[in-house]
Amino acid sequence: GNAERKNEAKNYNEVMSTLPKVKGLRGDDYYLYQGFWYAPFFLERLMSVQEHFHPQSTDIFVASFPKTGTTWLKALTFAIFTRSRLSGSTTSSLLSKMPHDCVPFLNYNLAQNPSNRDLTIPLLSTHVPYSCLPKSIISSCCKIIYICRDAKDAFVSLWYFHATLQRSKNVEPLPLEEAFELFCNGIANFGPYWNHVLGYWRASLEFPEKILFLTYEEMKKDTAAHVKKLAEFMGCSFTLEEEEEGEVQKIIGMCSFEKLSNLEVNKNGKCLLDISIPIPNSIFFRKGEIGDWANHLTPEMGARLDDIMERKLKGSGLKL
Ligand code: A3P
Repeated sequence: GNAERKNEAKNYNEVMSTLPKVKGLRGDDYYLYQGFWYAPFFLERLMSVQEHFHPQSTDIFVASFPKTGTTWLKALTFAIFTRSRLSGSTTSSLLSKMPHDCVPFLNYNLAQNPSNRDLTIPLLSTHVPYSCLPKSIISSCCKIIYICRDAKDAFVSLWYFHATLQRSKNVEPLPLEEAFELFCNGIANFGPYWNHVLGYWRASLEFPEKILFLTYEEMKKDTAAHVKKLAEFMGCSFTLEEEEEGEVQKIIGMCSFEKLSNLEVNKNGKCLLDISIPIPNSIFFRKGEIGDWANHLTPEMGARLDDIMERKLKGSGLKL
């Protein structure tokens, strides 16, 4: 009950007070916990799910660092999984619900209330790094689909997201240059970015049946091949008949940036990732392009981040 929650919050605060901290992107303190940085809001929820969360054995997780394609991947996995129910005139809930409301976040929605999910749809999502996932997930046979993206585009997307949120609260956002400096030092929620990527990359090499590793860029280049791959990985491959009927293209169209960003719910709705901050759905749809970083970062900044990524990923077999 309530008393328990208060007690728990107190314990988490005690743990937090022992952790290394720095000033982060929103002027908040960021805490270093199990090798990754978190604002208190995220850390409390992480500690809570690490302690309490138990998946169903059939659950499939969409995992990502923020701003690397989570919304798109949620829409695609949801559309793929629910397609067989949509025979006849029924339309997908993707048309009336924001993707984040179709596939709940482990570290927000479910941290608040573990029953905050539709048990008939085994899709959940998380930004938690692989090594920080609840043991109950690691030791389960749950599948994980991870998406990541060019670091420069991820950073620019992240900065815009924060800046837009801040301005909506009449707060002056952190200058891009300062945010960039933090990002290059690994400081961001769920960061360092490179360690987030590496954790899932290595796990996907070790457990290829369990973890599917994707990039935003590959998905953009050949969405159809990836939609089929996703379906196969999720255990609901497209039948020949479905392919002939254009089911793959239908799903791609429904989940496209153009389609989703123009829906009423995504233009004017808000989502409750946490009751304290209703977030306008529209800020999850900015541009949806590859390489937009070049319009916002100098070539020198770009080269610096490329260099950091290259050094950090060296020897891993991954090029991003
Ligand atoms: P940009 O800011 O570069 O436009 P996340 O979903 O992890 O928060 O990532 C957000 C990024 O994905 C944003 O990138 C956003 O525009 C893009 N995005 C959202 N929906 C998309 C879709 N349906 N297709 C492709 N990209 C999408």
